[in-house]
Order: sequence, then C-alpha cells, then structure tokens
Amino acid sequence: MFSRRSLLQFMVALPAALAAKTTSLAQESVPSSLNDWQAVRDVFDLSHERVHMSAMLLSSHPRPVREAIERYRQALDEDTVAYLEANMGERTEASRRAAADYLGVHPSHVALTDSTTMGVGLAYNGLRIRSDQELLTTDEDYFVTHESLRLKSLATGAGVRSIALLERAADARAESAESIVSKVLDAITPQTRLVALTWVHSSTGLRIPIRPIADGLAEINADREPDDHVLLGVDGVHGFGVENVSFADLGCDMLMAGCHKWLFGPRGTGIAVFSSKALDALRPTVPSFTDDPAFSAWVQDRNAPAGGNNGARMTPGGFKAFEHRWAMKEAFELHADIGKARVEERTHSLASQLKEGLANIDRVTVRTPMDPDLSAGIVSFDIDGWSAGEAVSALRDRGIVASVAPYAVPHIRLTPSIRNLEGEIEQAVDAVRALA
Ligand SMILES: Cc1ncc(COP(=O)(O)O)c(C=O)c1O
Repeated sequence: MFSRRSLLQFMVALPAALAAKTTSLAQESVPSSLNDWQAVRDVFDLSHERVHMSAMLLSSHPRPVREAIERYRQALDEDTVAYLEANMGERTEASRRAAADYLGVHPSHVALTDSTTMGVGLAYNGLRIRSDQELLTTDEDYFVTHESLRLKSLATGAGVRSIALLERAADARAESAESIVSKVLDAITPQTRLVALTWVHSSTGLRIPIRPIADGLAEINADREPDDHVLLGVDGVHGFGVENVSFADLGCDMLMAGCHKWLFGPRGTGIAVFSSKALDALRPTVPSFTDDPAFSAWVQDRNAPAGGNNGARMTPGGFKAFEHRWAMKEAFELHADIGKARVEERTHSLASQLKEGLANIDRVTVRTPMDPDLSAGIVSFDIDGWSAGEAVSALRDRGIVASVAPYAVPHIRLTPSIRNLEGEIEQAVDAVRALA
C-alpha cells in the first residue's frame, strides 16, 4: 500500500517537476499525408469486408492512438510504479491540455471522464439546486440525461419537467431552428435552474441550435440572482469530433462528451467542460486524485477548504486505464492534423450524400433533417414493412454496419464519418434499396 505521503506525491499534479522525468516514449506517429480520405481510412484497422457506419457507438482506434496505447501499456507492464510516478502528472495534464486546445478553453475548465454518461452524471449530480427549483429537459433527449435528472430529483426534491420538442414525435425532418429555440425558451420559468439538452439527438439525428438557446438564456439570466440563473447543460457526444466549433461558440455552461465515438479516441475516455459559472454552481461528486486541495488537506490532517472548483477537481479519482487516458492526446492531434474544418465538411458532405440517396428510394422515410445546420453525421430512417431491428440485421448480412436507436420509437441509423469513402455511401444506399 502507499503511504499518505507517497499517495500525495503520486496524485497531486506537479507538471513542471514531472515534466523533467517524462520519458521520450510518446514519439509522434502521425501519418505523413492526411490530405487524402483514403489515407485517413487507412489509419483504421477496420476490416474491409464491411462498410462501417457505426461511428456513433464505439471507436476503432486509429493508428496513432493504437500505437500510443501500446507504448504506454508496455511501459506500465514493465515497471508499473516507476513509470506511473514519472508520467502520471504530465501525461494526464497533456491529455487535458489537448482537450482544452480542441475546444478553445483553459485546461482548468476541463474534467477528464470515462464516457459521456459519466460526465452527464457528474455534472447534473453536482449541481447546487434548491428543492423549489426545477430541471428542464425535452422528451427527445437520451436515457443518460433523463436518468441523471431523475436521480438528481430524488436526491434534492427539485422537480423535473420535460417538454415535447418535435412537432411530430420521432420525426425531426420538418423542424426549424426558430421553432426549437422558442420551444425551449418559452418553457423557462422562474424556477428553472438547468436546461439539459442533447446537441445531436441519437434517435433522429436532429442537431439542436445550442448557441441561440444560450443567447436567450443569457437574456433571461440578466434579470436573475446568481443562484437563480438557468444553466445550460449539453450531452454533446454526437457533435463533438464532428462540428468545427469552440466551447465559446456553443455558449453552453456544461458540455459532456465521450472521446470514444466521433473523435475516435481511446475507448473508455471522455471529457466534461465547464464555464466559470458552472464551476461555481457545481460540486465534485467523486474524490479527485489530481490537484485537489481537499486531498492535500486530508494528507495534512486539516479540514478540506470550502469552495474553489475546477476541471481537475471535477475529474473522478482512482487509478485509471492510464494507457487509454494518456492516448487521448493523440486522438485530438489526429483531428488537428486532418483539420477540424475538414472533418466537419467531410462528415456533413457524406451524410448529405447518404440522405439524398435514401430520400430517393420509395418506401424509405428519412427522419433526420436534410438541412446541414440541423444535422450532423447521424442519418436516421425507416423502411416501410421493416422493423428497425430486422432492417439492421438484414443490412449487416449485406455487409453494412448500421445500428438501431435504443428509444421507444426505434429507427435505423447509418453514421458516415471520416472513416468512410463516397463509394461506401453508394453501397449502403444500394443495400437499403435492395430491402425496400
Ligand atoms: C446521446 C447519447 N449520449 C450518451 C451516450 C452514451 O455515450 P458514452 O458511451 O460515451 O457514455 C449515447 C450512446 O451511446 C448517446 O446516444
């Protein structure tokens, strides 16, 4: 076991001191040319027997991530404690910095998590809220948001209210940005403390206009006391790694996303990003091992200091699969090397090609808006006469990896990404046509 003193030395981030000890194992391994989409496809080991349109589920590690994980794994296996002591602070901070750079925020606003689910749970559970206040969401959000709010309500007595966002349930085709924004803002009451939304809905592929909602909330908050401010929380996982925006562009207070979907980061990694206002309104849920004054106070047998929150304190402690956490950096670097704008443009262009192809098939109804401003990489649709589950199985038999939305009204989902080529979109459309 570790003594209190050695634990503290281990956990408290001292990047400057530790940087000197950092070994040179993390040599870059970025492919020489990523200008060509075939070259991007080739950094993934995904089999060529299938068309993989499953980016919204779990990443296949791209080569730089795979290689970094393997280097760290080997070093940890060879001399676990020494390697951890020499690398934990600096490599963990390098991943936090990479996430911060990607979203244009200061690293102190970034918490490292294991998944979207963990981030959403930590954010909403940590919110200071009175029992006379309420948590607002929409009927179309995912289980992770609904369940986090339900649990928060049980713990605090604060109410949860859910509004219908779509004109036609489970169909986002006809939505307009104005109608979405006004439905959310019109639902705000003096009791509303949190609006919990999902950036890109995993059922219909609808992308919510987060910025105008944030702007509307800023106007509402201008007349409120700080403890009555409405905070905007966003499950951002299906926009993160696709859309070319910064945290400030989005304008929300809390953005939670797994890094193991569209970012193609290490499986079991994620981030949560908080505005200054959100950090003031939140308390950590899980003891942090990183740069936490509560930890230092405990070691020195003092009372934990009151207040003072940051991304490191919001980062759940405990030993991690460090080879995965540290290789987050390579995933962010790969996106930067490809170019954030190119990633967005490519994903939208393939999704548009797919939507247009599907819309031309009789008996197919595309549920995702055709408008690129109201969609991202998820393409949802139904085929007359087929349940979503049966259609997905039949598509798999034809070599197309689709998935079913785990919602009360399930749809078929295809999710083109930077891993796909135009020819694969045609193959997917042909396979759907064969079923219809
Ligand atoms: C909207 C949404 N949020 C969260 C999740 C879960 O993500 P994670 O595995 O990163 O917790 C999913 C699906 O996997 C999802 O569709």
